[in-house]
Amino acid sequence: MKVGTHSNEMQDAIVGAMRQVLAPIETARGLPNACYADPAVMAIEQRRIFREGWFCAGFVMDVPDNGDLSPIEVAGLPLFLSRGMDGAIRVFHNVCRHRGRILVEAPTNTKKAIMCPYHSWTYGLDGRLIGTPHIGGPGKHTCPGFDGTDIGLKEVRSAEWFGLIFVDLSGIAEAFGTYIQPLARRWRAFEGVPLVHTGADCRIEFELACNWKLAVENYCEAYHLPWVHPELNRYSPLEQHYAIVEQTYSGQGSNCYAPGFPEGAPAFPNAPSLPAFWGSGAEYVALFPNVLLGLHRDHFFAV
Ligand code: FES
Repeated sequence: MKVGTHSNEMQDAIVGAMRQVLAPIETARGLPNACYADPAVMAIEQRRIFREGWFCAGFVMDVPDNGDLSPIEVAGLPLFLSRGMDGAIRVFHNVCRHRGRILVEAPTNTKKAIMCPYHSWTYGLDGRLIGTPHIGGPGKHTCPGFDGTDIGLKEVRSAEWFGLIFVDLSGIAEAFGTYIQPLARRWRAFEGVPLVHTGADCRIEFELACNWKLAVENYCEAYHLPWVHPELNRYSPLEQHYAIVEQTYSGQGSNCYAPGFPEGAPAFPNAPSLPAFWGSGAEYVALFPNVLLGLHRDHFFAV
């Protein structure tokens, strides 16, 4: 009761503060401190941002082969990614329908079924309940009155785009196509270009001792380039950057993408048939709420 009251007061305070945050840029203020430090705000964010709309929850490369399973935790909930024998990626709550045991504890591959470690109920890669050993007593694997048809794993609405896996925990958010359309339209020149994950060495892990929004905010601006990234600023200087501000994504673009590899050094091929801009341009946007993207004629990355 107390927690709920505190949470409602907090929500009202934030809504009030947002008027200043949303003021014209010359007079706007940043978010209140509580937005970065108060667990009550995190709880509101999990409820209102991560449980009511689309967000990025993982990478297609995490389940490259049919039968792959990979656990993830998002918005405080345990989920897992599953690539079925049909090649389709699905996302499920990582919770057994019997007594709630976590089903997938580490990335693995299973060709047949997902077996719960507690009482060995088994599920197909499509989530169907397919085995309930001894449920009717020793040696009896069915029991009268028990119908497992509706007791499959709880699937989470999901979609793929640019090698990323998005989820909608609510199940009732707008269509994924509507959510992604503004950015997909901006980057339509890359539609259909195959993304090739080049191996384990193309993954970097960052451990950031900060609230998640600071990482997003930092990514959206080029202002810090001369001081924090002087090398980068030498060949892609601040004055060659422009701001990108849209409803569902924000960030920056550069007119100066020229990595300057030495003659003969291995390089990725350019995507075919790109408009002239991409010959020397690149764009870096945060797709709200939580994925940071960088797009170049020859490579793409996502954080
Ligand atoms: Fe999974 Fe019992 S909790 S089979």
